[in-house]
Amino acid sequence: MCGIIAYIGSKRAESILLEGLKRLEYRGYDSAGVAVIEPDGHQHVCRAVGRVANLESKLEAAGGFKGSVGIAHTRWATHGGVTEANAHPHTDDQLGIALVHNGIIENYASLRTYLKEQGHVFTSETDTEVLAMLIGELYDPEQGVDLEKAVQAALREVTGAYAIVVTCEREPGVMVCARKGSPLLIGIGAGEYIVASDASAIIAHATQAITLDDYNVVKITREGFRTSTVDDVELSPKVMKLELELGEIELGAFSHYMLKEIYEQPNSLRLCMKGRLDKREGTVVLGGLEEFSKELVRSKRVILTAQGTALHAAMIGEYLLEDFAKIPCECEYASEFRYRNPIIEEGSVVLAVSQSGETADTLAALREAKSRGALSLGVINVVGSTIARDTDAGVYLRVGPEIGVASTKAFTGQVMVLTMIALFMARRRFMSPEASARVMAQLEQIPDLIERVLDTNDQIRKVTEKHVERDNWLFLGRGYNYPTALEGALKLKEISYIHAEGMPAAEMKHGPIALIDDGMPVVFIANQGPQYDKVLNNIEEVRSRGGHVIAVATEGDKQIESLAEDVLYVPDVPEALSPLVTVVPLQLLAYHAAILRGHDVDKPRNLAKSVTVE
Ligand code: M6R
Repeated sequence: MCGIIAYIGSKRAESILLEGLKRLEYRGYDSAGVAVIEPDGHQHVCRAVGRVANLESKLEAAGGFKGSVGIAHTRWATHGGVTEANAHPHTDDQLGIALVHNGIIENYASLRTYLKEQGHVFTSETDTEVLAMLIGELYDPEQGVDLEKAVQAALREVTGAYAIVVTCEREPGVMVCARKGSPLLIGIGAGEYIVASDASAIIAHATQAITLDDYNVVKITREGFRTSTVDDVELSPKVMKLELELGEIELGAFSHYMLKEIYEQPNSLRLCMKGRLDKREGTVVLGGLEEFSKELVRSKRVILTAQGTALHAAMIGEYLLEDFAKIPCECEYASEFRYRNPIIEEGSVVLAVSQSGETADTLAALREAKSRGALSLGVINVVGSTIARDTDAGVYLRVGPEIGVASTKAFTGQVMVLTMIALFMARRRFMSPEASARVMAQLEQIPDLIERVLDTNDQIRKVTEKHVERDNWLFLGRGYNYPTALEGALKLKEISYIHAEGMPAAEMKHGPIALIDDGMPVVFIANQGPQYDKVLNNIEEVRSRGGHVIAVATEGDKQIESLAEDVLYVPDVPEALSPLVTVVPLQLLAYHAAILRGHDVDKPRNLAKSVTVE
């Protein structure tokens, strides 16, 4: 999604802004721009369609910017096409006010009409330009309405979501930022401040940051900052330590973030479990849930909600909570749940799963359930994110930053955390310490077992090469591995642009079997589990129609070799934990398919890392 980076200090802003934009590239974008207040006293803007490299070349050709106050943005189009005119920063039409914005101004149409009536001339189709113009309209320093006050007044008029940074050539040493619904952080350096929508763009310059809450406005100068609400009530800022290390967000020896993160999984899962499994007592230690353990034990129903990959993890969570904790569960797309007038009875718990903690639909579903009285829990990766702060309690994944747009290590982290939550509740409800300790011991084996799957990467690449020309694939699984099949299909389509569908293996007969023709690749998750024999029957059905079966099977299974065209082996793992290993060959298969088809794995077309708009 869109990215913001801004700088105020004594260094040349341009290089810091460009470096920040590059760190934000992973979020997905289609144009970029920068505005700097130059030594001539004017705000200069440069924008380009496409990659940050295009912007960089344009700036270089124009001699570059020299000033030390500037704002920059990567845009992912929502209102208006991908054009230079629609790229940010946007300016007002009179006063040299420039603004970058993440989010959506919902009442932009009526504001635009009003501003046009006041004589303003618009040059873009965006909602953001309306906000720049409105701030300009309200700006009146002679009457005491300086940039800070004009921003506050404008934000009182808008509905929607925003993270903004605003500069003005009449107040060259001032930068004003604000948020509602979209994340924004202010990194505190030595005599300088770096504002960004994402900590990864800050950590090269600052180890401490101010986090903004909704409706906060911060006025920054080189000497300090003032935090207030949009109604100008002064606030004490919350300063937090930035825990990220630069190495965690750099590629190192890997060619792509996605591959790096697939290979990180053994270690990220070790970190995820660290200090949380007390095998002697047979209990899981989840500090974030302790305060609500009584409510959780007494709860009558858990509603899991999420989008995309996080939804697939949540679906596995539903199986785990029912199996281990014997609690009724349901799992639903957050985008559907929020508009369905859901019935929330007493004792309901809503559990939101999200890597970024910023997904708009997941956040809205969570708020809807909370407003109807549910206890809210989060399974989140990004510390301090909006969902993490909005929930009553939660558990962080602790798998480190996920930069790849295609989610991999967050998925296994989410499944691992959901397994621990299921054990946490199960132990307090029905499960014996011995049974719980047994599952914990199995969980601890998972990282080593994933390493064994990673060792088969060459074979996975060769299998992918055989089928990569085919444009339609099916992914089938049952039980715990039905969500894994969905995840395998999502991975393949989002980075290789191959059409893929995932579904329960038994559903195939009810229609999709009509798709199977000679050589169509059909991936079966066919590990040894309670439904193994049934999956073999489904494999026969595909084979007899000419489909090419690629089976993810348990090491040592010789029978499957006579049925499948190709077999990708994974170690033997108890059924409830099996998605943690069966998903890994599917991640690698998708990665190789995208590379073989010549796509940029880390910048898939049309996709954003975190979807902060509806
Ligand atoms: O940040 P979240 O986990 O809430 O994101 C949810 C989805 O947008 C995300 O998982 C998406 O489906 C990924 N592109 C999948 O790889």
